[in-house]
Amino acid sequence: MGKVIAVANQKGGVGKTTTAVNLAASLAAAEQPTLLIDTDPQANATSGLGINPQQLTKTIYEVMVDGIPPAEATMKTELAYLEMIPSHINLVGAEIEMIEVVHREKVLLKALEAMRRKYTYVVIDCPPSLGLLTLNALTAADSVLIPVQCEYYALEGLGQLLNTISIVKKHLNQLLDIEGVLLTMYDSRLRLSNQVASEVRRYFGDKVFQTIITRNVRLSEAPSHGKPVLLYDALSIGTKNYMDLATEILRRDGILAEPPAVDVASAIISPPPQSAPPSLPRQAPATEPPAEPAEKILAASASRPQATTAGSAQQAGAETGNGNGNTRQQSQDSAAAPAQQQQQRDISSLG
Ligand SMILES: Nc1ncnc2c1ncn2[C@@H]1O[C@H](COP(=O)(O)OP(=O)(O)OP(=O)(O)O)[C@@H](O)[C@H]1O
Ligand SMILES: [Mg+2]
Repeated sequence: MGKVIAVANQKGGVGKTTTAVNLAASLAAAEQPTLLIDTDPQANATSGLGINPQQLTKTIYEVMVDGIPPAEATMKTELAYLEMIPSHINLVGAEIEMIEVVHREKVLLKALEAMRRKYTYVVIDCPPSLGLLTLNALTAADSVLIPVQCEYYALEGLGQLLNTISIVKKHLNQLLDIEGVLLTMYDSRLRLSNQVASEVRRYFGDKVFQTIITRNVRLSEAPSHGKPVLLYDALSIGTKNYMDLATEILRRDGILAEPPAVDVASAIISPPPQSAPPSLPRQAPATEPPAEPAEKILAASASRPQATTAGSAQQAGAETGNGNGNTRQQSQDSAAAPAQQQQQRDISSLG
């Protein structure tokens, strides 16, 4: 059974798609049969792998809304070990179209039941929201990887994400784990980047990946060439960062013992093995958690107070005058201390 990793953060532009595409490509370059699923109507992961979403008739939309077998929507990529289920702008209507579907938060979980046997890893790129599509990804996943941009307001909204993860764990997917928090777009020259990195480490402790993704222009250029960075510029720092991330995960999963000697060229041209991939068992819970309707969970996560403010990161941002959060909210210093305590409780309750 493959391991399903959802790359999620409802904040926009933090590096979810860049991480999903390049982590999946790096796992594939390490000869692990990998499936990348694009669940974002923006279809950035799809176009980032050189697939034109306009020309597709079978995508994750048809899998989730029309119920076609996911194998029919699966496409090959330039990397021999990497396949993808693309997305389409139609997916934007999925939440409404699925309103009548019973257990609509479990549609992706059910669709992937047969698929996950074929792959060692399934990586899901989530949209920037905590709506039904992300809920489906979290319900189908074994773990969630949270990219955090080393920028102003980095931790904003993470409390809400952690609440949603807690609720999903309680009601839909008891086994959901945090794969790790990934620092992205890090620039060692900026005091702000360093302050955000230490702030994130202070909150999340050993949940933060050792690997840090630095700001690298090759990572932002590669999608316009329809390639993961390792095929666009194998020697770039972006390629190295995402190979390091893949290595960290492979080591932790016991698949890789030694540092990999990955030959990207041979991974591209050699066919994948016929034998079944190594299995990463998904243990059955002692008792199935009671099913909870999607709207209840969505409402609960939306109504919870925002538990996160990055007090010192904000100060740091104010010092440098640097900031580009996508959805900004002014935090209140007076509320920061209890909010931080609440978030730390949230994190520790996630195990
Ligand atoms: N490490 C990096 N260095 C330089 N640019 C990066 C890096 N990571 C991501 N980017 C760029 O930042 C932008 C946002 O990244 P990305 O699309 O991966 O974020 P996202 O979280 O998926 O966004 P959305 O929420 O809209 O789906 C893109 O233009 C991407 O090329
Ligand atoms: Mg994206």
